[in-house]
Parts: sequence; C-alpha cells; structure tokens
Amino acid sequence: MTIDPMWNHEKRAAMRLKGKIALVTGGNKGIGAAVVRRFASEGAKVWSGDISPDLRREFSDDLSGHGKNISFEALDVTSQNSWERLVNKIVNETGKIDILVNNAGIYQRKSIEETTEEEWDKMLTVNTKGPFLGIKVALEALRASGNASIVNLSSTAGLRGSFAIHYGASKGALRLMTKSIANQFAKDGIRCNSVHPGPIDTEMGHAAVPHDQLEERLYQRIPMGRFGTAEEVANVILFLASEESSFVTGSEVVVDGGATSK
Ligand SMILES: NC(=O)c1ccc[n+]([C@@H]2O[C@H](COP(=O)([O-])OP(=O)(O)OC[C@H]3O[C@@H](n4cnc5c(N)ncnc54)[C@H](O)[C@@H]3O)[C@@H](O)[C@H]2O)c1
Repeated sequence: MTIDPMWNHEKRAAMRLKGKIALVTGGNKGIGAAVVRRFASEGAKVWSGDISPDLRREFSDDLSGHGKNISFEALDVTSQNSWERLVNKIVNETGKIDILVNNAGIYQRKSIEETTEEEWDKMLTVNTKGPFLGIKVALEALRASGNASIVNLSSTAGLRGSFAIHYGASKGALRLMTKSIANQFAKDGIRCNSVHPGPIDTEMGHAAVPHDQLEERLYQRIPMGRFGTAEEVANVILFLASEESSFVTGSEVVVDGGATSK
C-alpha cells in the first residue's frame, strides 16, 4: 500500500475518488443509490450491481451529469457465477477494483417463532454469504489495486440485540468477517471496514420500524430524534472508501444519530 504523507487541503478540495474503480452492490435504490451518486460525483468510475434491473431506468434519469461514470449491471450477490461475470467484466475493462461496497441486503421484521428455516437461510445467504462471495471473487482485482478499500454494510443490529434474530445474526457475522478480512489482507494493501446505520429513511428503514412505534423509537431511542438519510450514510462510506481513511481498517463506524450511545 502506498501512503501519501502529503495528503493535504489542496488534495481534499479535489475530487476524492478521482481515477478509482468502484463496485457497489444493491446500488439501485436506498443507501446504495446514494453511494453510487456520491462516488460518481467524486470522480470514481462506478459499477452498480443489483438484482432488480427495473429500477435502474428511473435512477439513470436523475444523475445530473455523472451518468457517464456509472455502469448499471445485473448482479445477484448470492451467486458466485453472477459475481464472476461482473468482476471479470470490470477487470477486462480496467484491470483492477479499488473499492468494493457490499451494500445489498434484505430485512424482515419477524420474531423467532414466525421465522421459517427457509427465511433464516435466505437472510444469511444474501446478507452474509453475499459479501463473502464478493470479496472472494474480487480478491485478485482488489490486490491489483495496491490500495483497496472494502466497506461492508452491517447495522446497529449487528452490534447489539434486536427484534429480528436472523437479520441481527447476518449483520453480526458480517461485522466479524470484516475484521478477519482486515487482518488477513492488510499486507496486500486492502483495508476493510464495516458501517452500522441505525434507522435510515429508505424502504428498508421504514419496514424495520413499525408505524405505531415510530414516535417512541425516534424520540426516546434516538437522541437526534429522526431517521438518518441515505446521503448521511453515503458520506461515511465515501470517507472509508477514499484515501483519507488510509490508516483505518477493521473498524466499525456507527451512523445512528446516537442510538447506540445509550
Ligand atoms: N435502511 C436502514 O434503516 C438500514 C439500517 C441498517 C443497515 N442497513 C443496511 O444497509 C444496506 C442498504 O439498505 P437500504 O435501506 O438501502 O435497503 P433497500 O431495501 O432500500 O435497498 C437494498 C438494495 O439491495 C438490492 N438487493 C437485494 N438483494 C439483492 C441480491 N441478492 N443481489 C443484489 N442486490 C440485491 C435491492 O434490489 C435494493 O436495490 C443493507 O445491507 C441494509 O441491511 C439499512
């Protein structure tokens, strides 16, 4: 990994991801879409992989000039073949991957009694096996960067107990997988960190907080008294993806308006 001791205000004022090749999963909506927009506006060439291709058309209409830096691709993170297809395509074009954001995820608000074995398997397959496969398949391309950053979207539910047992298990596992990857691949110039959002104003965020508990959850449990925005999470991911965080690896960054400070 090359450390630039001259990282300074002039560089910060420039585009923060200029020349970087980024792969963001689940980039069609929510937090992933905010990350794709932010990365492209900071000069990265962004590959957005998502299982739901229909949404990308709506998204592409609203890119305010950065659309040329974004490729929308089909990706099912649960399939190694699907990862191999996309990673090979990127490597054939660019020779490397500098940034991998494992953002794609699913949520289900169900108690242990309501959760079936199939639902458990699906949750762990998308939220935990998905990032595992992505890192495994992209490893050589990340090594080729010499200065790579992986950001895994965990959750505050990956830090402490919550209602949905299978979701919490999937995100807790991802938190520790992040630290193992950070340990093993620092020597190859690959950093790996996890981000832990609290309730964020996306479809998933609203599914996680039942309407009748909204007031109690927001005003009593979250010191800042509101949902976060996808852009506020994207800002943190941008920092971890950029070289501004060059000595940060194996860490967990909480973006929750203070909820876990209680
Ligand atoms: N929104 C929140 O409150 C919140 C809180 C904590 C953590 N998170 C985490 O942040 C990430 C993004 O959440 P969000 O709120 O933007 O979710 P979202 O539901 O709005 O978007 C998720 C995206 O992932 C895609 N996706 C789902 N399964 C996929 C698969 N198998 N392969 C490829 N893409 C797939 C979906 O098509 C969708 O575009 C998730 O990992 C989530 O667990 C969200």
